Formats: sequence, structure tokens, C-alpha cells
Amino acid sequence: MSRPYYIAGNWKMHKTRAEAAELAKALVAGLKDGKHKYLAAPSFTLLETVGAILKGGNILLGAQDCAEEEQGAHTGEVSVLQLKDLGVQVIILGHSERRHLYKEDDALINKKLKLALKHGFEVILCVGELLEEREAGRAEEVCERQTTEGLKGVSAEELERVTIAYEPVWAIGTGKTATPNDAEAIHAYIRKIVGKLYGNEAAEKIIIQYGGSVKPENAAQLMAQKNIDGALVGGAALKAETFIPIAKFQAV
Ligand code: 13P
Repeated sequence: MSRPYYIAGNWKMHKTRAEAAELAKALVAGLKDGKHKYLAAPSFTLLETVGAILKGGNILLGAQDCAEEEQGAHTGEVSVLQLKDLGVQVIILGHSERRHLYKEDDALINKKLKLALKHGFEVILCVGELLEEREAGRAEEVCERQTTEGLKGVSAEELERVTIAYEPVWAIGTGKTATPNDAEAIHAYIRKIVGKLYGNEAAEKIIIQYGGSVKPENAAQLMAQKNIDGALVGGAALKAETFIPIAKFQAV
């Protein structure tokens, strides 16, 4: 089965509205003839501005997180209802910065994920090991736990709206990309886990992105791996000059 490539930009906590609008316009122009699936995920405060520019085109609008409740006394949080109101289509959950800087655990991420799916969103579930976990030979175990716990209670039908992003924490923002072989090994392992949970057909269908220092220079090599179906891009997503070549990578 051939899976579509899915290239996503996580803009993290960058850009003002004017800067975001400039980038969004450049992406719309640069990717209008792009052949893959695309996403731009700016900060909450930029969603309305960026959403208006992406509307009707081939780049989906994504948020970087959501609250685990629909509404209520949750100061500082943003709800799925508010995201839907802004036209958000995809929510990134369990990013390593949420897990490690803001102490989100698997149970909380799972609660958010189920709520997002209940409200009709697509989600990107991020998983990935820390450097010390990799060095201790625990990369597979960590990714297995984050995948299994993250997907707990998700039906096979809902799984069709889930993408997994493997982002080894030691490769994020460090310039150290996992080698295509190392990334491929974990991607294959995650696909096997999905197969154990949902069967082979679902495992063959699920899109697994790689994230961690993806650049125009390494995108094609990563994407050439059998189980790497796209990228979740941080730093290089902040400029059209670097994101567009990744999004339009030339298969090797
Ligand atoms: P970098 O591409 O900056 O390493 O970030 C990856 C990432 O965290 C995307 O979510």
C-alpha cells in the first residue's frame, strides 16, 4: 500500500501576526502545486490570521496543543471548541516540549487525544525518547509505551485520523538528525506496535512522520525509508525558503 507523504510545520512559539501572515502567504504560493499533504501549525494567537490565508488551499491549519476539557475553569488553556471555531483541522499532541518542559504525561495526552478525535479533528501524536533513554537501549520501549498509552481507548475508525510523529528528543533543535537507518528502525517498530493494537491493515495505513532537525539537505534521504511517511519540521518550518524544498523533496 502506498501512503501519502505528509509534511508538517510546527512553528512553536515564534512569529507575530504580520510575520506569520508573510510566511503563510509564501507557503500558499510555493506549495499550490505541491503533491503531498501539508500542515502549518502556528501559535494559538496566530490561528485566525494564518487560517484566513490558508483557507481553501492545500495546507491544513493545525494547533500545537489543546486542553483536556471542553470548557470550564482552566485559566490559560485553549479548548477544542475554540479551535474548531477558528477552523483548525489538526491538533499536535504530546510534543516532547509539552512532555518534558510542561510535564504532560501519557494519561493527560491520551485524554486530550480522545477529546480532539471526538470533536472531529485529525491529530498528530508525537512520541520519542530522550538521549539517556536511547543510550540505555530503551528507545523502543519508550516509543512503545507512548504509542500504546497515547492511543488507549481510540477506535480503529478514529485511528484513521491519527498520524504518529517520531521525534527523538535529542534530535530536536540540535542540528543532530537521526540517521535514516536509525529513524527507519524505530518507525518500523512503531508500525509493528500499531499492528499489534489494530491489525496489519491499520498499521500499513498509518502515517508516521519523522521530526528532529529535518532540513532541505536531509529530507529526501529520510523520506526514502520505507516506513518514513513525512516530516514534522520545527526550525526549518519558520522560513519558506527552507520549508518549501522539504515539502517538495525530490524522491531519491
Ligand atoms: P526541529 O526541526 O527544530 O529540530 O524541531 C522538530 C520539532 O520539534 C517539530 O515538532
